[in-house]
Amino acid sequence: MLFGKSKDVIGLDIGSSSVKIIQLKEGKHGYTLVNFGMIALPPETIVDNAIMNSAAVVEVVKELLNSTKIKERNVVMGLSGHSVIIKKITLPTMSQEQLEEAIHWEAEQYIPFDINDVNMDVTILNPNSTVAGQMDVLLVAAKKEMVQDYVSIAAEAGLTPTVIDVDVFALQNMFEINYEMNPGETIVLCNIGAANTNLNIINNGISLFTRDLTVGGNMITEEIMKGLNISFDEAEALKIGGQSTADGDSVIPQEVDKIIQSVSDMIANEIQRSIDFYTATTADSSIGRIYLCGGCAKIASILRILEARLNIPVELVNPFRNIEIDERRFDTEYIQNIAPLASISVGLGIRRPYDK
Ligand SMILES: Nc1ncnc2c1ncn2[C@@H]1O[C@H](COP(=O)(O)OP(=O)(O)OP(=O)(O)O)[C@@H](O)[C@H]1O
Ligand SMILES: [Mg+2]
Repeated sequence: MLFGKSKDVIGLDIGSSSVKIIQLKEGKHGYTLVNFGMIALPPETIVDNAIMNSAAVVEVVKELLNSTKIKERNVVMGLSGHSVIIKKITLPTMSQEQLEEAIHWEAEQYIPFDINDVNMDVTILNPNSTVAGQMDVLLVAAKKEMVQDYVSIAAEAGLTPTVIDVDVFALQNMFEINYEMNPGETIVLCNIGAANTNLNIINNGISLFTRDLTVGGNMITEEIMKGLNISFDEAEALKIGGQSTADGDSVIPQEVDKIIQSVSDMIANEIQRSIDFYTATTADSSIGRIYLCGGCAKIASILRILEARLNIPVELVNPFRNIEIDERRFDTEYIQNIAPLASISVGLGIRRPYDK
């Protein structure tokens, strides 16, 4: 969804646990990191992908703009969750103009919401389809209400929305600037956040399957809260850092570790079910590798469980793999540490308004 013209943008990833902002510069030899910032949101600010407290989000975005001193005002944001529908459909061959006209009549059968309540975007994928007279079209629809919430937040923070992207595609764009794809190899990109997991199965640069699952790190934190009868913040701290001992080592209490293991198992199970669904419903069933990112990619057991169950190599994605980072300007240890959490923002930050 396009809103205006611009060349440079900032990527703004409004996640339910934290907001990330990034500015990248594209040069002759690739991308350079210009700015990055990340600030946590208070719990319950975003629930089930709905922004419950937009003032809190605006506040955090303003804080990020201040602390990073970003001057650029054009912003790209991403949507995810059940309010976003992504469908590949086959239609009779027609021009993009005709398609935009026709889609209002065609889309109804593919979208589980009132057509008047959604913003739609259509792209012709392969005008020269193998089937004569037909073409594949990518239909993306998002609830207007949700798009409007994001647009308002950007505007209130003094930003100009130029593109509203979709997180699963941001994930793919992030991957493509950083990794070579072996022709013929199918890979799974999997971003495991706090509330959502975004999946995108890709072959030869083409997305074959996308899905957002409502599983993530919050499930672990909530189980720790219940199990130990402690607050969200305390549970979150235990999950991430464990308890510091006198000699500075961090030790995760056995009880917490047990919860992390069992919920990791559930998360991995959900991911596996989607991948199994994909392989069962497609002729191409050979997945070569799974790439993990998002905050929960830092939980080693999720990686290990997926690898063992699916019998496919699982690897962590480094969204900064091909991005130049000036060591004098950035704390590289910090950047390395938060790298998995920055994946979506990198994908948003490399968008230009007129690419699709
Ligand atoms: N070192 C760590 N160990 C375990 N979990 C971690 C670690 N670092 C971050 N997390 C978890 O990762 C999640 C945050 O990841 P991320 O920033 O990708 O999510 P988000 O974008 O805010 O949320 P979402 O996209 O799901 O709305 C939180 O649940 C957090 O507890
Ligand atoms: Mg996220």
